[in-house]
Amino acid sequence: MHFYTAAVVLLRLALCLEAGKCPRVCSCDRTKLTVSCVGKNLTEVPQGLDEITVKLDLRNNNLQVLPRGAFVLTPYLTHLNLQRCNIITVKEGAFRTLGRVVSLNLAYNKIDVLYQESFDGLSSLKELYLDHNRVEEIQPGAFSQLGFLNMLALTHNQLVYIPNMAFQGLNNIKWLRLSHNSLNNVALEAFASLFTLSRLSLDHNELQFFPTQTMTRPREVTRLDMGHNPMTYLGEESVSMPKLTRLYLDHMSLQDLSDKALTGAPLLSHLDLSHNQLRYLEPLSGPKELTTLNLTGNPVYCNCYMRSLRVWAKVGGVRLLGACAGPPHLSDEPLQAVAAVDLRCRSRGESAKDAFEEDDESTEGPSPTAKPKLKVRCPMNCDCDIEAQHATCEGRGHVKVPRGFPSKTQLLDLRSNHFHYLPANSFPGTSQVVSLHLEFCKIHEIEAGAFQGMKNLFYLYLSDNELTSLDPGAFSGVPELTYLHLEGNRLAQLPGSALAVLPSLFVLHLERNVISKLEPAALLSLATPKLRELYLTNNTISTIAEGALDSAFLGVLHLDWNQLTEVPTSALSQASNLEELNLSHNSVRWVGPNAFLSVSQSLKRLFLDQMGMEKMSSDALAGLGSGLRALTVRGNQLEQLPDLSPLTGLEIVDLQDNPLLCDCPLLHLRRWMENVSLEVIATCGQPPELKGKMVSEVSVFTSCPERSSLPGEVEVTLDPGPPNTRKPKPSLSKASGVKLRSAKSKSTWAKSSKKKPVAPKKTKKKKTL
Ligand SMILES: *[C@@H]1O[C@H](CO)[C@@H](O)[C@H](O)[C@H]1NC(C)=O
Ligand SMILES: *[C@@H]1O[C@H](CO)[C@@H](O)[C@H](O)[C@H]1NC(C)=O
Ligand SMILES: *[C@@H]1O[C@H](CO)[C@@H](O)[C@H](O)[C@H]1NC(C)=O
Ligand SMILES: *[C@@H]1O[C@H](CO)[C@@H](O)[C@H](O)[C@H]1NC(C)=O
Ligand SMILES: *[C@@H]1O[C@H](CO)[C@@H](O)[C@H](O)[C@H]1NC(C)=O
Repeated sequence: MHFYTAAVVLLRLALCLEAGKCPRVCSCDRTKLTVSCVGKNLTEVPQGLDEITVKLDLRNNNLQVLPRGAFVLTPYLTHLNLQRCNIITVKEGAFRTLGRVVSLNLAYNKIDVLYQESFDGLSSLKELYLDHNRVEEIQPGAFSQLGFLNMLALTHNQLVYIPNMAFQGLNNIKWLRLSHNSLNNVALEAFASLFTLSRLSLDHNELQFFPTQTMTRPREVTRLDMGHNPMTYLGEESVSMPKLTRLYLDHMSLQDLSDKALTGAPLLSHLDLSHNQLRYLEPLSGPKELTTLNLTGNPVYCNCYMRSLRVWAKVGGVRLLGACAGPPHLSDEPLQAVAAVDLRCRSRGESAKDAFEEDDESTEGPSPTAKPKLKVRCPMNCDCDIEAQHATCEGRGHVKVPRGFPSKTQLLDLRSNHFHYLPANSFPGTSQVVSLHLEFCKIHEIEAGAFQGMKNLFYLYLSDNELTSLDPGAFSGVPELTYLHLEGNRLAQLPGSALAVLPSLFVLHLERNVISKLEPAALLSLATPKLRELYLTNNTISTIAEGALDSAFLGVLHLDWNQLTEVPTSALSQASNLEELNLSHNSVRWVGPNAFLSVSQSLKRLFLDQMGMEKMSSDALAGLGSGLRALTVRGNQLEQLPDLSPLTGLEIVDLQDNPLLCDCPLLHLRRWMENVSLEVIATCGQPPELKGKMVSEVSVFTSCPERSSLPGEVEVTLDPGPPNTRKPKPSLSKASGVKLRSAKSKSTWAKSSKKKPVAPKKTKKKKTL
């Protein structure tokens, strides 16, 4: 009995001592079961920790390596803080015994790689802090065991790229924080599998494009932080995130935002566009719930072009934040306080009527609503409107560039004069000019420094002159130049060296010149990293060197009306963001397999009309899928077509005027036409008895074997397929085939900022069944 009691007492004592263990350098709270060993220069996890410790704070030590099983003696931990421990490597299995930890803090260490099993065992973990490390690589499966994690902080690391499925296994993640890295690329499936993610932070990175497709994957995201990335442009349908309510696109370099950029974000309520370069914004189609639109810190110009936005905001109850940057009488006025009627364009060519109805501006005088003009300083034979900051000497027979415009002039219109030659320093005292018109001035030479001092010049129109070449210094001194019109000259090559001084160049028009070839690295040599749209229509281009069009920024390329004999596939191999390609009116008889593969992830519009095409490989469109919105092959010699069924996103398709061979190999087309809600016009050219009949109406397909719907496949099933029971449709006039919005050809400076490459308008969708 005695002995027994003594034994129990001893045992208790032993347990008690055991439970009371506390390493010498640490302080322990026995009731809260917490241990703190902060700032002790420890090089390893201290020995002799109490097994039942739940919170362990090891901040500011010098652990360097966390070995396998580092915490095997403290299995009940729920909170572990390892901030600033100089940790470089976390060995596989370091946390394997910590199945109860809910919060792990590894911030401010020197971890560079997250290995496949770095976090194994942390099966209850809810928060993981890995910010302020040097992570540049996430190995596949690094997070695969963290099925309960809600928040992962990877901010302030050195990530450049996020690979596919990097976050696989995070089945309960709510907030993923990737801010302050150097991301310039995120793989298409980088965020796939994050079905519970509601907030994603990608701000302060180096993304030049909105990763449209990638962002469609985490489909529950309601808030996206994307600010402080160097994006300059947001095109149509850039954002396709059905649950998104808050979108932060602040502190970027946006110069243009398509009114359709957000059509795929119908629930958006808060949009932050503050601190960008937007001068105008059109009403946004798509978000019906928008309550706040933040335009603070943009150079918004409050004239008639802003009126439709103002009206739209008022009607829709959208609060506009930000202020007018001009004109002077509205400067600093809060957008919300400016009435729509005060958003006016007063001078000729800029009246609201002109703006929205595209009247020919060269015919009438000042608009009747104009206030009496204040005539001040103005060169002879010119008109200057001080208030509107416009000056014009259009078509007045000047042979020298007039001088002495009001210093605040922003639009200078000198078109249709006879300058022939522009000497250096032709425009003194015009540093405020944003838009300069020099069309039809018979200019054949521009001396270096001609535009010197025009440090705000944004739009320059040199169309329809007689330029055969350009001096390398022709555009020096105009660093802001963004839109350059050189169409209708006699340039025989891409004026590379002259353009090399234009770091902001965004849109370049070179239509109607005599350029016959594009040299290797032609675009790279421009040193115009932001060139987004390149128009080369109606030149004589027959060769495009491999790599000539290498530019990850190029979005729109028009090569129609040239002399190409093949699709410039290899030239486009690095044009990974190309959205629109026009190759119409070349003579390309055959389009081989994979012709558009390199641009298939980004391409939205492809125009292949009137090219004399006789054959397209059944794999010609390989890679193109739901992203393609428009495809035209009108007026070719095609008898067969590739399978169009992968193109599930098509809104426009034009197959007219091809002599299609209406027989079983074309069954796939017929099936596809019956299946899509698009108006598709295609006619048979053969056999003779079917010539001119609509593909959708001939009955020849009813006797085709089922499987011949796949081109190239031979199938011998003798199932005759369902009989064609559809009623014949009245034939549609050709003109109703496809409608494309006509190019806006107006060219006042403000207009141009809104001018887009011809955007295809949706055809009226129509059920064919
Ligand atoms: C920390 O430990 C390292 C080596 O273990 C030693 O060289 C260094 O002097 C120590 N620093 C302090 C502040 O104790
Ligand atoms: C609008 O943007 C500015 C500048 O980024 C910011 O300070 C302000 O808080 C924003 N306002 C709202 C309501 O988001
Ligand atoms: C191409 O340019 C030439 C010469 O400027 C012109 O005559 C022709 O009409 C243009 N064609 C098209 C389709 O623009
Ligand atoms: C018809 O549409 C359905 C669903 O959109 C699709 O699964 C099927 O493959 C289509 N068939 C053809 C022949 O395009
Ligand atoms: C593509 O080129 C053809 C031929 O020049 C032209 O008719 C068509 O409008 C162009 N498409 C677009 C979208 O610019």
